[in-house]
Amino acid sequence: MGKRVAIIGAGVSGLASIRCCLEEGLEHTCFEKSSDIGGLWKFSDQPEEGRASIFQSVFTNSSKEMICFPDFPYSDDYPNYTHHSKIQEHIKAFAQKKNLLRYIQSETLVSSIKKCPGFLVTGQWDIVIEKDGKQESTTFDAVMICSGHRVYPNLPTNSFPGLEKFQGNYLHSRNYKDREAFKGKRVLVIGLGNSGCDIAVELSSLAAQVMISTRSGSWVMSRVWDDGYPWDMVCVTRFTSFLQNALPPFVSDWLYVKNMNTWFKRKNYGLMPLNGPLRKEPVFNDELPSRILCGTVSIKPNVKQFTETSAVFEDGTVFEAIDSVIFATGYDYAYPFLDDSIIKSRNNEVTLFKGIFPPQMEKSTLAMIGFVQSLGAAVPTVDLQTHWAAKVFANSCTLPTMKEMMDDIDGKMGKKLKCVFFSFLRFGQSQTLQTDYITYMDELGSFIGAKPNIPWLFLTDPQLALEVYFGPCSPYQFRPMGPGKWDGARNAILTQWDRTMKPSRTKAVQEAQRPHPLFNLLKMLSFPVFLLAILLIFY
Ligand SMILES: Cc1cc2nc3c(=O)[nH]c(=O)nc-3n(C[C@H](O)[C@H](O)[C@H](O)COP(=O)(O)OP(=O)(O)OC[C@H]3O[C@@H](n4cnc5c(N)ncnc54)[C@H](O)[C@@H]3O)c2cc1C
Ligand SMILES: *[C@@H]1O[C@H](CO)[C@@H](O)[C@H](O)[C@H]1NC(C)=O
Ligand SMILES: *[C@@H]1O[C@H](CO)[C@@H](O)[C@H](O)[C@H]1NC(C)=O
Repeated sequence: MGKRVAIIGAGVSGLASIRCCLEEGLEHTCFEKSSDIGGLWKFSDQPEEGRASIFQSVFTNSSKEMICFPDFPYSDDYPNYTHHSKIQEHIKAFAQKKNLLRYIQSETLVSSIKKCPGFLVTGQWDIVIEKDGKQESTTFDAVMICSGHRVYPNLPTNSFPGLEKFQGNYLHSRNYKDREAFKGKRVLVIGLGNSGCDIAVELSSLAAQVMISTRSGSWVMSRVWDDGYPWDMVCVTRFTSFLQNALPPFVSDWLYVKNMNTWFKRKNYGLMPLNGPLRKEPVFNDELPSRILCGTVSIKPNVKQFTETSAVFEDGTVFEAIDSVIFATGYDYAYPFLDDSIIKSRNNEVTLFKGIFPPQMEKSTLAMIGFVQSLGAAVPTVDLQTHWAAKVFANSCTLPTMKEMMDDIDGKMGKKLKCVFFSFLRFGQSQTLQTDYITYMDELGSFIGAKPNIPWLFLTDPQLALEVYFGPCSPYQFRPMGPGKWDGARNAILTQWDRTMKPSRTKAVQEAQRPHPLFNLLKMLSFPVFLLAILLIFY
């Protein structure tokens, strides 16, 4: 009999898990506390306790060819960046097509996951579920935790002296749904992340004044990259990833800042990140610079203190008569059903092998899916993660020893500090585990035999190889071989630009214009200084 796997949550991660367990012949049940699938993409007017919450105007920041399930492309009439309701539509269509719904027990809360008494031998878990007010305990052979990590708001009220005196109202971005309530109001948004920027820009068209306070700044990028192509279709390629690892850091830093500043000079907008090229996760917002130019949004430093009606910033300036403060200060992950020591096995730090497996357990029967964040879309990442986890549970992949896994975790931290990454694709420290997208995807792919073999491809199928290496590193790249092999993958890769270009081609008769494969290279070679730097190094 197949092993029994419990899957907690039916968001993107949960659905990917169900599908992979099916493919590996595992028996599985998925528990979802809300009434429907989709996780954070299932919009509701009121935030629900324990489930991620988004606002009405959320659009994706990954384009459709990069965020889809690897064997389920969006149809070509979807826009490149889609509204959350369209993502939800896609997720539901996927679940229906792959017949996943019958494995889901909805309105069922998992309230506790504990090792069974015989864990050392069996690796089993005791899982307590609550449905219709009744509790029930069941034993499972393995668990996949897919409960999301943008659920519990980080509301740093203690770091803002005077907030208790403040007479206006304040809320976390999680409780922000739409702009209506803010008409004519004076609003302060704290935090320059994706949510903070989106909210500030949205409010600026009807609020009286909007200010964003930021401690360290962010790299604000446009979804629309050079020549109007979606940013990730141009930036997230194997070729860029190769350059990023090959170039010396000072060259890549310089190039990064130069590249970034071509859209607009960040300094002039008060948006320059304090730590320069050592950047945090980028923020995607096309409108922020124009709102700043129009004066409807202003950028301010950190808030020193609040008074009854105003905020005093660190540079001494004051924002008076504030009606509302919105804390777009991100999230803390929490797994209330799980003992903290399982994922934080040392010094209260998260220790997870490849961001998935707790290394210090006698049996590898628990996987955290969707915990790692990379500068790439979440869907293809969790898809590879669950494939690997399902294979480990089914014993067709084995993990290294506890010691090797701990060494790998420590090694990774060392590497992160060295920072030998290139251009658009690098990260600083942050709350969640972050990692370079393509490197991470290839690593996962190599564990399960799904990593594309580029030299072999160049020999056997040069046309495909060119698109795989120089073109966008789209989810389909991990499907021409390995588990979940999909016969349509080759075609999906070769037609990804056609789906991207569809609407504009209804008017034009000629071939869709796509970026030339060597586009990036040529562009960079045009920097004479870049050449000079290279010369210097090789001398
Ligand atoms: C505003 C916003 C925009 C984003 N935009 C993008 C984007 O453009 N591109 C991108 O790649 N990523 C984006 N993300 C990242 C996003 O996190 C992922 O795309 C993905 O949706 C995460 O899915 P998940 O299944 O891991 O978690 P979730 O979607 O949070 O799903 C978790 C599910 O688990 C259920 N659950 C939780 N606890 C329990 C329990 N105890 N018992 C039973 N069920 C439980 C919840 O009800 C929920 O349905 C965005 C995130 C946010 C917040
Ligand atoms: C897109 O936005 C979400 C939510 O604001 C963020 O968590 C995610 O990292 C962003 N994606 C990229 C590729 O930056
Ligand atoms: C996607 O972006 C391209 C530009 O790269 C544009 O020509 C095309 O019309 C967009 N596709 C859709 C479906 O809107």
